[in-house]
Amino acid sequence: MNATHASRYRETYARWQADPIEFWREAASEIEWVKPPQVIFDAEAGVYGRWFPDASCNTCFNALDRHVRDGRGEQTALIYDSPVTGTKASYSYRELLGEVATLAAVLEDLGVGKGDRVIIYMPMIPEAAFAMLACARIGAVHSVVFGGFAAKELATRIDDARPKVILTATCGIEPTRIVEYKPLLDGAIALAAHKPETCVVLQRPQADASMHVTRDRNWRALVASATASGRQADCVEVAATDPLYVLYTSGTTGRPKGVVRDNGGHMVALKWTMENLYGVKPGEVFFTASDVGWVVGHSYIVYGPLLHGATSVLYEGKPVGTPDPGAFWRVISEHKAVAMFTAPTAFRAIRKEDPQATHLARYDLSHFRTLFLAGERADPDTLKWAEEVLKVPVIDHWWQTESGSCMVGNPVGLELLPVKHGSPTVPLPGYDVHCLDEAGKPVSAGTMGAIVVKLPLPPGALPTLWQDDERFRQSYLTAFPGYYNTSDAGYIDEDGYVFIMGRTDDIINVAGHRLSTGGMEEVLASHPAVAECAVVGIRDALKGEQPCGFIVLKSGVTQSPAEVEKELVALVRDKIGPVAAFKLAVTVARLPKTRSGKILRATMKKIADGEDYVMPATIDDPAVLDEIGEVLRARVAT
Ligand code: COA
Ligand code: AMP
Repeated sequence: MNATHASRYRETYARWQADPIEFWREAASEIEWVKPPQVIFDAEAGVYGRWFPDASCNTCFNALDRHVRDGRGEQTALIYDSPVTGTKASYSYRELLGEVATLAAVLEDLGVGKGDRVIIYMPMIPEAAFAMLACARIGAVHSVVFGGFAAKELATRIDDARPKVILTATCGIEPTRIVEYKPLLDGAIALAAHKPETCVVLQRPQADASMHVTRDRNWRALVASATASGRQADCVEVAATDPLYVLYTSGTTGRPKGVVRDNGGHMVALKWTMENLYGVKPGEVFFTASDVGWVVGHSYIVYGPLLHGATSVLYEGKPVGTPDPGAFWRVISEHKAVAMFTAPTAFRAIRKEDPQATHLARYDLSHFRTLFLAGERADPDTLKWAEEVLKVPVIDHWWQTESGSCMVGNPVGLELLPVKHGSPTVPLPGYDVHCLDEAGKPVSAGTMGAIVVKLPLPPGALPTLWQDDERFRQSYLTAFPGYYNTSDAGYIDEDGYVFIMGRTDDIINVAGHRLSTGGMEEVLASHPAVAECAVVGIRDALKGEQPCGFIVLKSGVTQSPAEVEKELVALVRDKIGPVAAFKLAVTVARLPKTRSGKILRATMKKIADGEDYVMPATIDDPAVLDEIGEVLRARVAT
């Protein structure tokens, strides 16, 4: 690493290492607290300690009221740009505060108070952000569920979070179809054991919804009535350690993990990243093309930019097809975004349709400074292409729903470190990243191992899983005592650059969406014709990975394999949702197993990807691997 270039990063990281308490005390001074923290970290509290245990605050106050009070009232806070509906709108900080305080009053009138959960099942419209901030305002805990999930997934989240109220809209809009949310919501509530008291439904012009007489309320009517009577809710004081939200993410089974984010640490962490990592200043425009249903949307469409007094773009569209592969360039140019954040898959999609980037010539991007990529491994090819066409630094950075913000990145705001393609660069303050072998011993530079973070995790990272400390310990803290297990594998090179190569569990990453193959296997196994199954993520040129289900039929099944495979594709779409992108089910005579009966998924993946593999020493019958190879070759040929 070049010493002069590295100095500001090194100095900052060393300062954190030398005195983390002082480092976070200083970062916390950027937040306006109701009761400022005296104690920065209590190592005895919570599962591994708690940050700012004696402080109190309100996240919405810091995101909105504070800026209006301090003179940003007329600055644009949120830009809504929706090519799928042909709509654009913008909200100043003052207007956004008005919308949020009114919706918060509506929630209060529905009986929602501090600590109550509210599920938000909404498309990418401004009201989704109003809803999140309204919950934050009154101390309610929101749980946003991505619109691409089906009724059963939503039902699981309803049963775990037990919301008092669910906020939804009549539909989401995909380029090829209208996704009606209300039937999915009704289906989920019918499946769930817990029943919410009220559902508030936002009527969109693209779809109507039938309303349950006693349970469902019309969003616009409630807001109009609160506005007419001048009802606005005040900010409620919450403990810094109180949860701001629960966001469910794929675990190794069909039961998702409820990642908890607390109020205080989250604000401190996000505020720090806006300037130091992303190099964005208050008043500048930040464009994150993700979805509010993912952690990236929580942190960098809603909370991060607003806590920082920046302007955020909420984009309801795709990188291609809405209407063309110049869509991102238009948004950057039109709204004068200085930085953009998306997943590499979006750039693969743009490159596939416009390899010469001809659409770029139509737009002025002279103000654009940096592109940030995360959510999946950024393949060096795509990264180089983006650098060449955009002529700005392209920064890969690595994080997880659990961390809530970046763990390993190139801190552009501090100093742009030399980019090594294939590496998200270096650990940020707060993250003491190590690479260990299976026995928990550090491996040498350049050797693959498990990527782990020394405890405690910093402010903003999950303190636990929703009402399940034990699952939190089991999932993350037991494999390597004293460390948080990221379940990612990779290596650290001699310059301290971290390379993330893939997951060590059965999570796969499809188009930047995190999915559980275990969850898909549960669905496949529920089909009456299926005796056994295994789902693996196989390489896909656009989406990085795509799920492939290998199935063994029960003897005596009269349906043809093709019929069963078609039903399985439909079943996964119905039970998990279109986001699972499950399109490939392959019938095989038997699955490869070890002598102790463990299915050899990793070897199947290698065969499907056309990679060389070593015959596992413990395999029961090596001939099965040839059979699988033959079936796959026949499938590719058709
Ligand atoms: N509501 C309902 N359905 C949704 C949805 C939503 N919010 N988001 C996606 N889907 C559907 C899609 O319509 C698609 O359905 P189909 O099988 O009928 O075609 C399915 O889920 C799979 O979606 P996806 O994997 O996203 O594929 P795609 O072909 O629609 O789009 C890309 C491919 C690359 C353009 C798209 O994945 C993309 O823009 N990715 C950006 C990555 C991103 O935002 N990641 C978030 C983390 S940073
Ligand atoms: P999610 O929780 O949905 O954000 O997914 C987190 C997972 O995505 C990580 O554990 C990684 O496996 C993967 N991931 C995210 N960002 C990167 C990155 N920059 N490089 C490699 N993998 C990444």
